[in-house]
This record gives sequence, C-alpha cells and structure tokens, in this order.
Amino acid sequence: MALNGKVAVVTGGAQGLGKGFAEVLLRHGAKVSLFDVVEDSGNATKTAFDKEFGPDRTLFCVCDVTSEKQFTDAFQKTVQSFGGIDIVCNNAGIINETDWEKTVAINLSGVIRGTYLAVEHLKKQNGGRGGVIINIASMAGLGPLPTCPVYTATKHGVVGFTRAMAMASEYGGYGVRLNMICPIFVRTGLLSSLDKEERAGDFYHLRDVNQKIMERFGTLEVSDVAKAFEKLVLDESKNGAALYVKTEGADYVKFPTQEDIEEKSKQ
Ligand SMILES: NC(=O)c1ccc[n+]([C@@H]2O[C@H](COP(=O)([O-])OP(=O)(O)OC[C@H]3O[C@@H](n4cnc5c(N)ncnc54)[C@H](O)[C@@H]3O)[C@@H](O)[C@H]2O)c1
Repeated sequence: MALNGKVAVVTGGAQGLGKGFAEVLLRHGAKVSLFDVVEDSGNATKTAFDKEFGPDRTLFCVCDVTSEKQFTDAFQKTVQSFGGIDIVCNNAGIINETDWEKTVAINLSGVIRGTYLAVEHLKKQNGGRGGVIINIASMAGLGPLPTCPVYTATKHGVVGFTRAMAMASEYGGYGVRLNMICPIFVRTGLLSSLDKEERAGDFYHLRDVNQKIMERFGTLEVSDVAKAFEKLVLDESKNGAALYVKTEGADYVKFPTQEDIEEKSKQ
C-alpha cells in the first residue's frame, strides 16, 4: 500500500512502539492521528513531529481506548481534520497483573472496540476507502508467558479476534485487511512493568524466570519493530497474517489449519 497522502490512526501513539509506528507512517508521507491517555507525552510527541514533518501532518487526541465515547469522538475528529481514514493501528497496551480487569479492558476490549470503529470507517459498504488494520499482539499471543498470565490471555485474544475478523472481512467484501505484529521483548516503558511488584502482582516472585526468558529471546529496539511494521503495512498481499518479530528478524507465523488440528488430535 502506497502511504503518501494516506491517513492513519495509532492508539498508544504518544510513546514507545506507537510513536515508532507513527514515525514510519509520517516518513512515507501519511498523516497520523495519535490517540493516547497521557496528555503531556502526546503533546510533546506532536510538537516533535510538527518540527520534523510540518504542522499539518499530525493530530493528537486525548483518548482512553476503554471509553466508547472518547474513542468514537477521536475517530470523528480525525475524519473532520484529515478527510477520512485508511490505516488503523491498535497498539495501546499495558502489563498489570494486579488489575486484571483493567488489562483486559485496554489490551483486548480496547483492540476489539478500535477494530470495530476502524471497520465502520474503512469498510467499502459504508462508503469507506478500504484499508488496513494492524493490531499489536506479542510473543505472548503465540505462547504462554508464565510471569503474566492475564497479559498472555489478552494477547491470545487479540490474535484469535484479528484472524477471525480478517476472514469476516474477506467473506464480507469489506475491502479491509487485518494483520498482527507479535514482537518479543522491546525496550520501552512497558518492559519495566515486569520488575515492579505493583504491576507483576502474584507473579513478582517469578522475575528470575522472566530474566531467563528474556536472556533466551533477547530484546529489541523500537526501531526493529518499526521496520517490521513498515514491511507489513506496505504489503498488500497479507490478510490475517501475524508477523513474529525477533532478534534474527521478522517472519510470518504459520498457523495450523483446522485439518492440521484434526489430524494431530487423532495421533
Ligand atoms: N515492550 C514490549 O516488550 C512489547 C512486546 C510485545 C508487544 N508489546 C505491545 O506493544 C504495544 C505498545 O507497548 P509499548 O511497549 O510501546 O509500551 P509503552 O508503555 O511504551 O506505550 C504504551 C502506550 O499506550 C498508552 N496507553 C495505555 N493505556 C491506554 C489507554 N487506556 N488508552 C489509550 N492509550 C493507552 C500509554 O499511555 C503509552 O503511550 C502494547 O500493546 C504492548 O502489549 C510490547
């Protein structure tokens, strides 16, 4: 997909990976609407982007992805400012095992809400231009992380939901592709959550286990995942795909088909 002149929404775009994805889109000539709860970082990121890319290329909307109203209003504001939407990246996420309901509300319900709003705006049957939705999952969406079971559940949820929606879009002729990114550990603020008792909760005592898993898999920089995001957003052939991003590079996940599962269950 050529990105010049396209309009994108990135949730959790004030910092970390979301900021990195927004930068990729801006470099390719897109306009980007950043949705985030943290107003100071959101404004600071917009100011930095204004300096580098010009004042009319970025919008910052205070938006909590757990609020239907704020999310709906932010989409509306984006359309009014930029004249439509082509790309939506549902990226906002937290690790908080002590408040599992909040974690589910942001990481899973927020992605479902953001995807439904995106489909409503992008879908050709609604007069939309079609486009692409990229949902940010994790390695914890492909296998279990023992130090954060609720985070693991939300990310598995994101993978299952996105794959099913990709098929629904294809069968329904929405003109919208839905894909996922599943990175290993990335050096952002979120990563330090695992070392904080108030975030890790009952699993704080497993931080040595976590350390070993991190040593085994390694850690990435935001720029590594931004490169993978660029590859996925430009590739128009993918729908329902998950890009696994690791230290050796990024590869598409080969999910077992229903036939594979039935075959295995007989063994
Ligand atoms: N850092 C990692 O190791 C890693 C690995 C795999 C996947 N991920 C995923 O990448 C995504 C981005 O994480 P990150 O590492 O950049 O973390 P981060 O903490 O640096 O950034 C997350 C952003 O989301 C925002 N946010 C939090 N709650 C929100 C809400 N209710 N509404 C709107 N915005 C909200 C935060 O304010 C922040 O700007 C998350 O979904 C995370 O699960 C991160």
